[in-house]
Amino acid sequence: MLSSKLAIVTGGGSGIGQEICKKLASSGAQLIVADLKKSSAESTAKLLPGSGHTAFQIDVSKYDDVERLKEFIQSSGHHPGVLVNCAGITKDSTLLKMSREQWDDVINVNLNSIFMMSQMIARESVKSQTSLSIVNVSSIVGKIGNFGQTNYSATKAGVIGFTKSAARELATKNVRVNAILPGFIRTPMTEAMPPKVLEAMISMVPQRRLGEPEEIANAVLFLASDMSSYVTGATIEVTGGLGM
Ligand SMILES: NC(=O)c1ccc[n+]([C@@H]2O[C@H](COP(=O)([O-])OP(=O)(O)OC[C@H]3O[C@@H](n4cnc5c(N)ncnc54)[C@H](O)[C@@H]3O)[C@@H](O)[C@H]2O)c1
Repeated sequence: MLSSKLAIVTGGGSGIGQEICKKLASSGAQLIVADLKKSSAESTAKLLPGSGHTAFQIDVSKYDDVERLKEFIQSSGHHPGVLVNCAGITKDSTLLKMSREQWDDVINVNLNSIFMMSQMIARESVKSQTSLSIVNVSSIVGKIGNFGQTNYSATKAGVIGFTKSAARELATKNVRVNAILPGFIRTPMTEAMPPKVLEAMISMVPQRRLGEPEEIANAVLFLASDMSSYVTGATIEVTGGLGM
């Protein structure tokens, strides 16, 4: 489905991002696994079927790092067909206790990165007249909010607004922009939670279970491929019914 397309996945070194890399590579894409942790990006790249994949160390919240990725892509002579913005962090605290640093860090990584990465890759695509699918990983809490996550929820709601505006601007330029809103997914983050908190979360989900990273990756594959050629500006909730 993605035969010989170049796909960039930020946050590809762990959890959902790693599963997305595996799914896209299994569908024929050549991956740039972009992650803050070099060793994680390398581990993912080694797991991938096919050849020609690259592990790229990057802090997506830093403009100079995004520029470095641009130079790498330009020197490769390939034009990206898929960008998945998946890198994300949490720094939870209630609003009354949240520090300015907790707020700024989450905004920088989860939201400012989406602007820098999407602008950089979309410019490349328009210049080279290559079709592009951008998939932004938001969260259901961007729609419904969550206790202790004013910073995180604000970024994920911001990603939804960004997605719809960028989709409108780029629709006639062969660039589609969509977002996925995962619910509670089984990743190192959720596995580290106290069992009681996890049980309480699961009881809120109509399907009464956590989602698997592969269930997010399946939705990403749909949006990344031509199967969704008439879909842009959409938000797909993959939540087991949470937040409907
Ligand atoms: N796990 C869930 O239940 C869930 C639910 C909704 C949305 N999400 C979103 O899905 C995405 C992936 O989450 P996950 O649970 O797999 O997390 P994770 O912590 O397992 O993976 C996140 C990856 O992003 C990388 N990263 C962090 N900061 C970075 C930076 N500045 N530059 C580059 N890479 C950076 C990390 O090194 C890590 O490899 C995030 O955007 C998260 O907000 C997760």
